[in-house]
Amino acid sequence: MRRYGNWAVVLATLLATASVGISALAGPAAGAAPGAPAPNGAVGAPAAGSAAPAAEPAQQAPQSGFLGSEACVVCHENYDRAVEATKHGFKGNALAPASKQGCESCHGPGDAHASDPEKVKPIQFDQVAADVANGQCQTCHNRGEHALWDGSQHENRNVKCVDCHSVHAAEGPTLMRAKTQQLTCARCHQTITNKQQRFNHMPVREGKMTCSSCHNVHGSVNVKLLRTGTTVDQSCTSCHTEKRGPFLWEHAPVVDSCTTCHDSHGSNNDRMLQAKLPFLCQRCHVTSRHPPTVYEGFTLQNSGNANKMYGKSCANCHQQVHGSNHPNGKFFLR
Ligand code: HEC
Ligand code: HEC
Ligand code: HEC
Ligand code: HEC
Ligand code: HEC
Ligand code: HEC
Ligand code: HEC
Ligand code: HEC
Ligand code: HEC
Ligand code: HEC
Repeated sequence: MRRYGNWAVVLATLLATASVGISALAGPAAGAAPGAPAPNGAVGAPAAGSAAPAAEPAQQAPQSGFLGSEACVVCHENYDRAVEATKHGFKGNALAPASKQGCESCHGPGDAHASDPEKVKPIQFDQVAADVANGQCQTCHNRGEHALWDGSQHENRNVKCVDCHSVHAAEGPTLMRAKTQQLTCARCHQTITNKQQRFNHMPVREGKMTCSSCHNVHGSVNVKLLRTGTTVDQSCTSCHTEKRGPFLWEHAPVVDSCTTCHDSHGSNNDRMLQAKLPFLCQRCHVTSRHPPTVYEGFTLQNSGNANKMYGKSCANCHQQVHGSNHPNGKFFLR
């Protein structure tokens, strides 16, 4: 109530009885709250301009309990500006809030609120429970990309649409709350986003890819909210198709999961490997025809092949670690 003072109650009473009263009172309203913060940072623009249309008949017959956006912006100056600049304000789209109930498509019917702003509040997204807040958005966003929201990891943990999106004060594309996706996600997934700073990473930091290239944060049928396929491998090979196989000679860990050897978010090893070569291979290959590790005492002593274990990394000879189609490719050498 700090911002508006008692005039709001007076105005509300008048509003209920005579809608023409709005434009008459709007002037004083601006005067009473000269510093009223506007969502886009603009301050105290004259209310008369924005209030004028309110005197005209509403653009569509307001349903019972609904006031129409014009009435809202009499008191909440400028709140329409930022919305109008986005797809939500595009009147040409019959599905957009602008062609529906305007402010009230999201905030719910505001009649009672306008009559007694202090006692009756419309939906305040930061205060209501997650399912209520999200339910408002889902009245429109419940298909396609969003069909699997219910039951998704984010939904389960009561993450709100507005934890990532902002309707009035978005800083990034697709109404991101922060300038980039990375920064938006970093609020909760700092350790993951930090990996982008590592020496080797897919070009997310450079803006050629985003977190959502691989993830659908709104829900998916794959593990870890991965956008494509039903396994990690299918997700990776949706872009790296040449690694998909099937190969004549399969390498078991590749068939299992790319992330056995690669860190999807970045690593300080070449090619985003989980460990440096040859250690990566030596995690599993402790014995073979040529000595793969220094613990292979006998072969090490009795073989001219000892150099294969160090110096040159395994992948110099085993060039087809992802699988080979060469008739003689059993050992992934070709
Ligand atoms: C008569 C003036 C008036 C009208 C008309 C009005 N409001 Fe309000 N609204 C207020 C006041 C005053 C407050 C602050 C109440 C408080 O802080 O106790 C408020 C609070 C709110 C809040 C919560 C703000 C917060 O800081 O969390 C929202 C959201 C809101 N109004 C939306 C609307 C919408 C949508 C409409 C149109 C349907 C509307 N209001 C119409 C005066 C009005
Ligand atoms: C009355 C229906 C309606 C409601 C309610 C609604 N939206 Fe939308 N929203 C739309 C339409 C229509 C579009 C434009 C879709 C398009 O053009 O593809 C859109 C677009 C978006 C976009 C993409 C913007 C862009 O620039 O690409 C985001 C993000 C979004 N809405 C989030 C939300 C959130 C969060 C809420 C709840 C606070 C919400 N919407 C409530 C109808 C709605
Ligand atoms: C964890 C963060 C996060 C949450 C939570 C989230 N979103 Fe998004 N949303 C994103 C990101 C990132 C994109 C961009 C994805 C892209 O470009 O495909 C996006 C894109 C969108 C779009 C535009 C893409 C389209 O479908 O046309 C809409 C609409 C949208 N979100 C609505 C919602 C709604 C509604 C909710 C809540 C039910 C929600 N989002 C919850 C991060 C989030
Ligand atoms: C597409 C859904 C949507 C529409 C349309 C919409 N709002 Fe909001 N409103 C929100 C969300 C979500 C928030 C929470 C803050 C944010 O995300 O920007 C919010 C916050 C607010 C607040 C609280 C103040 C604050 O900064 O938290 C007020 C007041 C408000 N809206 C008024 C309006 C008015 C007036 C209109 C119509 C001109 C309107 N809203 C249209 C979704 C919407
Ligand atoms: C190249 C595809 C790709 C990109 C880009 C990507 N991820 Fe992932 N992400 C994965 C895969 C695959 C997994 C599951 C396997 C794993 O944990 O490495 C995963 C797992 C996660 C997890 C769950 C981690 C866990 O330990 O369970 C989070 C959180 C996550 N990603 C967030 C992000 C964020 C935030 C971004 C953007 C900075 C991002 N991802 C970009 C592929 C990707
Ligand atoms: C408000 C906090 C919040 C934000 C912001 C957020 N997340 Fe999450 N995210 C969570 C929570 C909580 C979980 C569940 C973690 C768990 O179950 O261990 C989760 C889980 C995930 C998972 C893993 C799912 C799994 O199966 O383990 C991925 C992937 C993910 N988020 C991606 C993202 C991406 C990408 C963004 C940015 C667009 C993002 N998140 C933004 C809170 C957030
Ligand atoms: C959306 C497409 C896409 C998906 C999905 C994807 N990648 Fe990538 N990946 C790229 C792009 C683009 C590059 C950069 C290629 C370049 O720089 O030439 C890249 C590069 C790489 C590199 C080479 C890095 C280097 O240092 O040269 C590796 C390794 C890699 N990806 C592994 C994976 C793994 C593992 C997955 C699954 C978790 C995956 N990728 C999923 C697009 C994708
Ligand atoms: C057994 C460990 C291992 C597994 C599992 C693995 N990789 Fe690799 N990957 C490597 C090694 C080692 C290199 C580096 C090869 C080199 O430097 O010559 C590499 C390099 C790459 C590269 C960059 C160089 C190139 O060949 O294009 C991409 C992309 C890649 N892997 C994608 C994948 C994908 C996708 C999967 C899952 C289908 C996968 N990797 C599974 C070990 C593995
Ligand atoms: C996660 C464990 C794991 C990692 C890491 C791994 N491998 Fe394998 N590798 C296997 C398994 C399991 C087989 C199948 C063994 C079998 O069929 O007897 C295999 C088979 C092979 C074969 C064929 C052996 C044969 O007898 O058919 C070669 C060569 C090979 N790996 C080389 C490598 C190289 C080089 C690396 C490092 C880039 C590597 N492997 C990393 C588990 C792994
Ligand atoms: C100088 C080339 C070279 C290097 C370096 C090399 N290998 Fe090999 N590796 C071979 C050749 C050639 C074979 C085929 C077997 C043979 O003819 O002895 C082989 C066979 C293998 C086999 C299958 C043998 C069996 O007994 O089933 C495995 C597993 C293997 N190497 C793992 C590794 C690992 C792990 C490294 C790194 C520590 C490595 N190799 C480094 C050339 C090399």
